[in-house]
Amino acid sequence: MALRGEFTPPGDKSISQRLVLISILAHGEMSVSGLSDSDDVRVSLEIFRALGGEAHGCGSKWTIKGLGGQTAHQGDEPLDLNCGGSSAAMRLLSGVLAGLPGLYVLDGDDHLRRRPMERVIDPLRQMGARAETTSGRCPLTIRGGGLHGIEYVNDENSAQLKGAVIFAALSAGSPSRVIEPISTRDHTERLVNAFGGRATLNPPCLEIMPGRLELPETFSVPGDLSAAAFFLTGAAIMPDSRVTARNIVLSGSRIGFLKVLDRMGALVSISLEQEKPEPTGSVTVEYAGPLKATEIAPEEVPSLIDEMPILSLAAAWAKGTTVFRRVRELRFKDVDRMMAVKHQLGALGARVRAENDDLSVEGPTKPILPEFLDAARDQQMAMMLHIALAASGAGRPVQGDEVMAGSYPNFKQDLAALSAG
Ligand code: S3P
Repeated sequence: MALRGEFTPPGDKSISQRLVLISILAHGEMSVSGLSDSDDVRVSLEIFRALGGEAHGCGSKWTIKGLGGQTAHQGDEPLDLNCGGSSAAMRLLSGVLAGLPGLYVLDGDDHLRRRPMERVIDPLRQMGARAETTSGRCPLTIRGGGLHGIEYVNDENSAQLKGAVIFAALSAGSPSRVIEPISTRDHTERLVNAFGGRATLNPPCLEIMPGRLELPETFSVPGDLSAAAFFLTGAAIMPDSRVTARNIVLSGSRIGFLKVLDRMGALVSISLEQEKPEPTGSVTVEYAGPLKATEIAPEEVPSLIDEMPILSLAAAWAKGTTVFRRVRELRFKDVDRMMAVKHQLGALGARVRAENDDLSVEGPTKPILPEFLDAARDQQMAMMLHIALAASGAGRPVQGDEVMAGSYPNFKQDLAALSAG
């Protein structure tokens, strides 16, 4: 089977999350188009409303009136906020609330309750917030206000942690600096600068000045490259394929997987159509023969962390052994993605090894298609399995793939259209 044609993925989830949460701090009113219609972003919209914010709309079109830091809740009674399964909501929101008066308790579902949270609370405490985890996990208790700037080294290479510190820094009494040994996705600082704040990058140091933010009248969220990655990678492994993703985010901090596909031998062309507030444009990936293995260096990992599962499928189809170096962070995602990739690709007949912090995949794989494919309630695994099935020319249901609706509601329609293209 080949994939051919054009598609437009749903709005970028990382940018959408930040857009809703920055509205707690910013003044003004904006009309948003392209907002990610995902479970995670719905959680943030609910939280915004629980704090007294006005957000009207549905699907991808919303009008959001900024709270300017004046939440409806400023007393001593704790306000319970439910972050569902979204680590981005919980971590970014922690930074926002750390600078505001009031007492907040942030909790989430069973998955979120297993994820590490001390890493985000620790810098906020250094800034002066009175904040606690529950044995390193959520529920989190945050009593905000009275912050001062800090210098924070983002040793975990996490954009969520950097984002939390940036949000807190906006309400601090003095400037803050975030040092990044390896740079991570830059959407928070881009939004701050686009909305009248000052976050100045002199690599590896980002300096954030406290200050007032104004929402623009309109904001258009570009499409999600992480969602587009499934079809773009599918095109790289299926003969005769040529697929174009339109209107997607092209920040240098996100396009690591395109560089890897290019290195592996696919034809990748990027067309930048807009620079600010987010680099946006289209990407075409064309099959150019069997892929060859490559090594993914630790410095590349943050720029492809969410594309690693689908890249590992490309690795299983490629000739030779592809090694992903130091991808331990994958163990701390919604699920242990290092083990999930090993298990799912292993079930398809691929030779996958997880050793120390590295993951290696030896290809090419002669896929054996088990009778029963189960995404184990993981969106990324569900989409990866659908691409594996398409690449094997086989039709099989994927159990539990309804979770895809939580991030890419039209995945199956887009797959069908590209397969017929
Ligand atoms: C995200 C950052 C990454 C990524 C996650 C979204 C973000 O997580 O895996 O899906 O929106 O900042 P970490 O910050 O934990 O690396």
